Amino acid sequence: MAVLPLFLCSSLVFLSSVVAQQGLQNGFYSSSCPKAEATVKSTVQAHFNRDPTLAAGLLRLHFHDCFVQGCDGSVLITGASAERNALPNLGLRGFEVIDDAKKQLEGLCPGVVSCADILALAARDSVDLSNGPSWTVPTGRRDGRISSSSEASNLPSPADSVAVQRQKFAAKGLDDKDLVTLVGAHTIGQTDCLFFRYRLYNFTATGNADPTINQALLSQLRALCPPNGDVSKRVALDKDSQANFDVSFFKNVRDGNGVLESDQRLWGDAATRTYVQNYAGSIRGLLGLRFDLNFAKSMIKMSSIEVKTGSQGEIRKICSQFN
Ligand code: HEM
Ligand SMILES: *[C@@H]1O[C@H](CO)[C@@H](O)[C@H](O)[C@H]1NC(C)=O
Repeated sequence: MAVLPLFLCSSLVFLSSVVAQQGLQNGFYSSSCPKAEATVKSTVQAHFNRDPTLAAGLLRLHFHDCFVQGCDGSVLITGASAERNALPNLGLRGFEVIDDAKKQLEGLCPGVVSCADILALAARDSVDLSNGPSWTVPTGRRDGRISSSSEASNLPSPADSVAVQRQKFAAKGLDDKDLVTLVGAHTIGQTDCLFFRYRLYNFTATGNADPTINQALLSQLRALCPPNGDVSKRVALDKDSQANFDVSFFKNVRDGNGVLESDQRLWGDAATRTYVQNYAGSIRGLLGLRFDLNFAKSMIKMSSIEVKTGSQGEIRKICSQFN
């Protein structure tokens, strides 16, 4: 961890040209709660120091928030019929980090900082802490008043074809480039065996494994996820580089080392393959900045999906409950 600050400086991406998105603005809290962003950052840092895998959890949490009801904190609400209880959301992690940041912010400036913004900021800080890029997050989101598990079908499934992935992202205003770039988030984090074991043994009832899996990876994954083993066993999404936000995920997809079927399929479609190839070929340094830069740009787009601003929604007092 001692070398971290060096990496952070070298990979910082400035996006001052991106100022306003969907009614959001850079530094929305600069006068109403000047310490808002620093408080989120120090909270994420403290939790990350104890458990670095929370960075991946927080990044995914923001994605799942944005795809259902927009980026409005709807994923944070607890309750039997809430979004958080939908099948694709059962493995989400990092809620305690958001609750912790909110608690501190309610002490500093009560009723001012939305849970939706805390999530967007925490996702940015998590990427930064994982040696990835940093960017300015436009803020001013308001928290939603609806959270329903039945709406989580908007979320992509790991068995989705590229056509379906494309359609689900397009429905949120995100194109092929955004899709490939944002799925690059799988450069950090893990998956349960549950989500890919079907590829290893009797894929599409052929009796064989998914033929697109690299043979060496296939042996490793079979050892980690035996036919009758524990489906909740965790496996890295980015072989050999799961804690580092880098381009190795794209090299893995190129080489048949994608763990999720949806990730590997990005190599089988001509349009998405071009982006994978481009990122896989880049070297950290001069060309490596391209994934960093595009990730920051696409995150700002994703973070702006169907946001509520102005007098819409509310500013929750507790992130897991409506006021
Ligand atoms: C086609 C689109 C996508 C599909 C099908 C997909 C699917 C999945 C699945 C099945 C997992 C494993 C969950 C678990 O077992 O806990 C996962 C993990 C993850 N996803 Fe995605 N994902 C997609 C796009 C994204 C995007 C756009 C982001 C963020 C920008 C993202 C960030 C993550 C992260 C960071 C993890 C690791 C979480 C952890 O370690 O706790 N994913 N994804
Ligand atoms: C694969 O699945 C199909 C359909 O369920 C089944 O008929 C077949 O026997 C299975 N093959 C193996 C090798 O398990």
